[in-house]
Amino acid sequence: MTGDGTRAVRAGLPEPKAHEPALPGPVFAAHFHLPGEATGPYTYGRDTNPTWTRLEAAIGELESPDEPAHTVTFASGMAAITAVLFSQLRTGDAVVLPGDGYQLLPAVRARLESYGIEVRTPHRPSTRASHTPVDAALDAQLGILEGARLLWIETPSNPGLDVYDIRRLADAAHARGALVAVDNTLATPLGQRPLDLGADLSVASGTKALTGHGDVLLGYVTTRDAALADDVRLWRKTVGAIPGPMESWLAHRSLATLALRVRQQADGALALATALADRPEVTGLRHPGLPSDPSHALAVRQMRPGRFGCVVSFVLPDKAYAERFLAALTLVDDATSFGGVRSTAERRARWGGDDIPEGFVRFSVGVEEPEDLVADVLRALDAAKA
Ligand SMILES: Cc1ncc(COP(=O)(O)O)c(C=O)c1O
Repeated sequence: MTGDGTRAVRAGLPEPKAHEPALPGPVFAAHFHLPGEATGPYTYGRDTNPTWTRLEAAIGELESPDEPAHTVTFASGMAAITAVLFSQLRTGDAVVLPGDGYQLLPAVRARLESYGIEVRTPHRPSTRASHTPVDAALDAQLGILEGARLLWIETPSNPGLDVYDIRRLADAAHARGALVAVDNTLATPLGQRPLDLGADLSVASGTKALTGHGDVLLGYVTTRDAALADDVRLWRKTVGAIPGPMESWLAHRSLATLALRVRQQADGALALATALADRPEVTGLRHPGLPSDPSHALAVRQMRPGRFGCVVSFVLPDKAYAERFLAALTLVDDATSFGGVRSTAERRARWGGDDIPEGFVRFSVGVEEPEDLVADVLRALDAAKA
């Protein structure tokens, strides 16, 4: 039994072979030599590719170290999410989607509804504003499960950072015959293992902390159910949402440092959240690692110790205040996305679509020294007072 960091440096690598590299380079091939019958393992580049095979084995080892699992990689997180939804749902089915999930989910909802699929979204109590117990949000999801074919959980959620009880929701969904998918983007498989907590599918954007350098778009689905994996693989082949070999190879190379990055980012995020908690101009501060956070107790039960993710969210008094703050930062890029080695922050409301105030800042902590980052943020807050 090895630790996560040890597993991550070797995950998916072939057995060492004299005079061969540890991680063979990307295989660029639209087709493979195929004499005779059209059988695998490698036939056509939209079906299979050896660079995907190695990456998929690696992600599977991290998401499910103790039981065999199947991973299917995609061109992006959205390709992975929609592969699950559109391969599993049929006209007349019902699906429960989160009310506070990734901002493109409403567009997905509209598309599902246009195909005659009922989409249910729980009413979301405002935990950010009032510190209402997170259980209320959970109960809202439980209340609309009856007859649903699939329950989608995003935890911690983006950008609100609420944590949902995967075990409790999965048990309730399974008792009603529903499948459970968890968006594991924010935590990464080193922060949380949805399949061990009862989910049928762990789905993520590898664009974020998994690959962590802000230079790759990628998505994946991992499941222990071979038939489910076949469904999503067939969906990938049908719509052609395949990852490029170069991206797949870069992603695989990045996994070797995943444990280091996740640890450093979580330490930095906690240091930042702790410093922000003392600032009067900051409200609605959320980070699951912060002991005062409404999600902290559940995060401690469900997530891996000390790995509560790299995102801190908070609200500054108004739009102009938040923009002055972002402009005054010197170590932090004003950019979207999260999980990268360089810290980024953005005024999230600039995109529209999320139920958040104009001064809401989503901050993604990189691997800088936490004290440098905290000093930069406190200085920028002072500058933003203007
Ligand atoms: C939680 C979550 N899931 C899915 C996605 C979509 O991933 P991608 O941008 O790789 O399509 C994002 C992107 O921000 C995300 O934050």
